[in-house]
Amino acid sequence: MTTRKILITSALPYANGPIHLGHLLEYIQTDIWSRFQKARGHECYYVCADDAHGTPIMLKAQQLGLTPEQMIAQTAIEHQADFKDFLIGFDNYHSTHSEENREFASEIYQKLDAGGYIKRRSISQLFDPEKQMFLPDRFVKGDCPKCGALDQNGDSCDVCGATYSPTELKNPKSVVSGATPVLKDSEHYFFDLPAFEEMLQQWTRGGALQSEMSNKLQEWFKDGLQQWDISRDAPYFGFEIPGAPGKYFYVWLDAPIGYLASFKNYCDKAGVDFSAFWQKDSTAEVYHFIGKDIIYFHSLFWPAMLDGAGYRKPTSVFAHGFVTVNGAKMSKSKGTFIKARTYLEQLNPEYLRYYFASKLTSGIVDLDLNLEDFSQKVNADLVGKVVNIASRCASFIAKKFDGKLSAELVEPELYAEFINQGEVIATAFEEREYARAIRDIMALADKANQYIDAKAPWVLAKDETKQQETHDVCSMGINLFRVLMHYLKPVLPAMAAEVEAFLQVELRWDSYSAPLVNHHINSFKPLMQRVDPVKVAAMVAASTENLKPTTAVVEKVEAAKPAASAIEPVAETINIDDFAKLDLRIARIVSAEHVEGADKLLRLQLDLGNETRQVFAGIKAAYQPEQLVGRLTVMVANLAPRKMKFGMSEGMVMAAGPGGSEIFLLSPDDGATPGMRVK
Ligand code: MSP
Ligand code: ZN
Repeated sequence: MTTRKILITSALPYANGPIHLGHLLEYIQTDIWSRFQKARGHECYYVCADDAHGTPIMLKAQQLGLTPEQMIAQTAIEHQADFKDFLIGFDNYHSTHSEENREFASEIYQKLDAGGYIKRRSISQLFDPEKQMFLPDRFVKGDCPKCGALDQNGDSCDVCGATYSPTELKNPKSVVSGATPVLKDSEHYFFDLPAFEEMLQQWTRGGALQSEMSNKLQEWFKDGLQQWDISRDAPYFGFEIPGAPGKYFYVWLDAPIGYLASFKNYCDKAGVDFSAFWQKDSTAEVYHFIGKDIIYFHSLFWPAMLDGAGYRKPTSVFAHGFVTVNGAKMSKSKGTFIKARTYLEQLNPEYLRYYFASKLTSGIVDLDLNLEDFSQKVNADLVGKVVNIASRCASFIAKKFDGKLSAELVEPELYAEFINQGEVIATAFEEREYARAIRDIMALADKANQYIDAKAPWVLAKDETKQQETHDVCSMGINLFRVLMHYLKPVLPAMAAEVEAFLQVELRWDSYSAPLVNHHINSFKPLMQRVDPVKVAAMVAASTENLKPTTAVVEKVEAAKPAASAIEPVAETINIDDFAKLDLRIARIVSAEHVEGADKLLRLQLDLGNETRQVFAGIKAAYQPEQLVGRLTVMVANLAPRKMKFGMSEGMVMAAGPGGSEIFLLSPDDGATPGMRVK
């Protein structure tokens, strides 16, 4: 086997939030591949970094009263502790806010500029006059230009589903200050992506990409590539563009360059030749593991930037799907938005590594972490099958045979079968078909257990004339166990290390086919506990954010927060007169029905005692209409009627919650009657 030179990366997590179980799918997937390649004897490096730039990071630091540098330094410590405890074996972990990255970003930009790939032109954008800053789409809110729904995001309406540009919003407000934004012109720098179309077409057809990704790329080519805006005006947290004071690189320009920066930082420390991996004609392999949400950046912008600046392109980009928990998007109120640290406080990281491995394929499909299935699979496979082999054989070896394995293998064919599966399993790992590898390994574990069941060493051991056979059977079992743990080592590195201590042998691909005979082993200690359901429940409880009772929201509940940030609009106080203006009334829902053509709305008829009102409420994801009929709720009765696409809305109902399927209609006790004033 020839030695390959391989560089592997995972996407760089943003430095303004904690690592959660969704992220971990990617780092675990990549880490298994990296450990596998290293075990096979290749020269392999796995690097990553924090993605530290951008508006959300700048604003979050401001909110916390920190400098961005202080905040990202704190996050770097937390991220790395989480990764270490999940046994993610990076060779280097760096930051995009680093000298190396500044140098590479400048160099690549200057080369692109010299090549004629940077275009400059003036564009008009919303500007916050109070904060004196341009506002990215998701930092503007206002009323939907199509249906009039209040307080919608700058790019799309949650109520009617329309998409638009933030300049079309009615009553636009800056999320940062609440001020009304104004339009302002500024010169922006663009990367000429269309100039690379032919090169990208070729690269795509090279056969190294997943088929789903190639198809996606073909669609994008068909839609036409656009020039990409790579500059942002001050104030911005990032690198100033050389020769352009007050202009900064957009975070996504220097983020993938962070791969180069982290690797360079490593090469300088470790004496590895950086250019052997990155020069144009390099024969080394470079792979980026990413989530499906960032394919565009990695399969179009990034290879084009590299090519335009005279570097080699990645050998391939491997995208994975998204993690759902118990069948739904991770949710703070359901306790399924689980942070890495919250998991680690309760559960063994190798449970999750194993569970993800047992479900991962090379495709771009979402992966459900079902907590029932998770416990069941770990218990059945790892505790019930794998560890069970060793625990049933080890005590006899220790007690009766002085800790020594027998002098020869009595079932060489069975052993050979286990060894011969090695290349099949290796191929599955190589192809990122971990689920298949695990299935094959568990089929062998079943065979080993069947062998032990059939021989029943616990019966043999009681028979004085069958001591040799007892020794042989148990030694055979331990040898089979060793082969299995060898295959599982990239997935379960900590357990494998314990097994190495127990068996007093290193689990290596270049020596695993020779059996352990006449070999001393240590006493057996339990290698893995069953998943404790109490701890799973504790993890979910610790992840459940209390629904703040003060966040009663009217009709439309904010679903999509500015994605990567935690900017919450500051609640101003109101005086008693403001409050008195609200005419809040008890209403009975007399009918509720779906609205043709509306994704989120239900049409409600509300009985107010002396009149009936029609109200459209964005609560379709949370309630079936029939659940609502007959219920009491609270409505704003003096809200000016509003004409919507589907008819007149004459008021609003009150609900609380983060949005989507988690909206909770306020429901007074039965003593209340329609028309009562709420005070
Ligand atoms: N900073 C960018 C990546 C820059 S790479 C040059 C970013 N950061 S992120 O923190 O939002 O996500 C990091 C990685 O985690 C991405 O590949 C993303 O797809 C992945 N995941 C984030 N949430 C995820 C799930 N719920 N499920 C699976 N992967 C997820 O994007
Ligand atoms: Zn709308």
